[in-house]
Amino acid sequence: MRTVYVNGAYLPETEATVSIFDRGFLMADGVYEVTSVLGGKLIDFGGHIVRLHRSLTELDMATPCTDAELLEIHRELVTRNEIVDGMIYLQVTRGNPGDRDFAFPSADTKPTLVLFTQSKPGMAASPMAKIGMKVISIEDQRWARRDIKTVQLLFPSMGKMMAKKAGCDDAWMVEDGKVTEGTSNNAYIVKGNRIITRELSNDILHGITRAAVLRFAREAQMEVEERAFSIAEAQEADEAFITSASTFVMPVVEIDGTAIGTGKPGTVAARLREIYLEESLKAAI
Ligand code: PDD
Repeated sequence: MRTVYVNGAYLPETEATVSIFDRGFLMADGVYEVTSVLGGKLIDFGGHIVRLHRSLTELDMATPCTDAELLEIHRELVTRNEIVDGMIYLQVTRGNPGDRDFAFPSADTKPTLVLFTQSKPGMAASPMAKIGMKVISIEDQRWARRDIKTVQLLFPSMGKMMAKKAGCDDAWMVEDGKVTEGTSNNAYIVKGNRIITRELSNDILHGITRAAVLRFAREAQMEVEERAFSIAEAQEADEAFITSASTFVMPVVEIDGTAIGTGKPGTVAARLREIYLEESLKAAI
């Protein structure tokens, strides 16, 4: 049985509880981070902590503990659960005010902090990286502050189910004719040697993997263009792929039934995946 963390205590997963009045439960008033673990080490922990602080600040939510304590909890959970490869999920909510009220509770309501591990042995060798993903496009119906990593994931969940129903792996969301991002990842196309991905704004999550992959791409003299693209442009691209903490770099081989390029994972995506895994492992803590 997993050991999880809740508000200062390490507990068996069946004994960890959160109040029914918790604002995370009642209002989706919470933020989260997912940090991957490879070889027992944390990938880009620093990046995830910076984004957590940004999410908390944007929502005027208190910080539950210090960064050093958060690192300690992550490491303790990896050790206690003997995680070699997998993920650590962290969630902070505005806490339990003892009742339901739309207004934020007073400052003495402590934030709720929950962390748990998900074991995925051999995660870096996912067969999907060799096969590639199939995606459908759907209208983006999320709220307008997608740069904040909140736990209100109902529409992304619905998108994932629409993809499943269509026999596909994920959905790319479209707004005003342009792709915003995948349901739980950032979206890219490749034309020649040029990598194209939507620019940062409130319309998308500022992916930690995105930042690293674009940095490595530029260092490898690849051209990067940060701008929005349409589904039609993506269908005519040489390659397509996604990035996230849990999938790293994953090729996309089909969009709305149209094969991308050769219909097989492309060389740019494969190279970026290789560089990302190599460099991230070197810097893992
Ligand atoms: N999802 N865009 C969205 C909407 C996301 O939910 C995510 C991450 C990303 C990629 O961000 P990062 O590279 O920092 O993981 C982009 C996580 C993995 C999840 O919800 O499980």
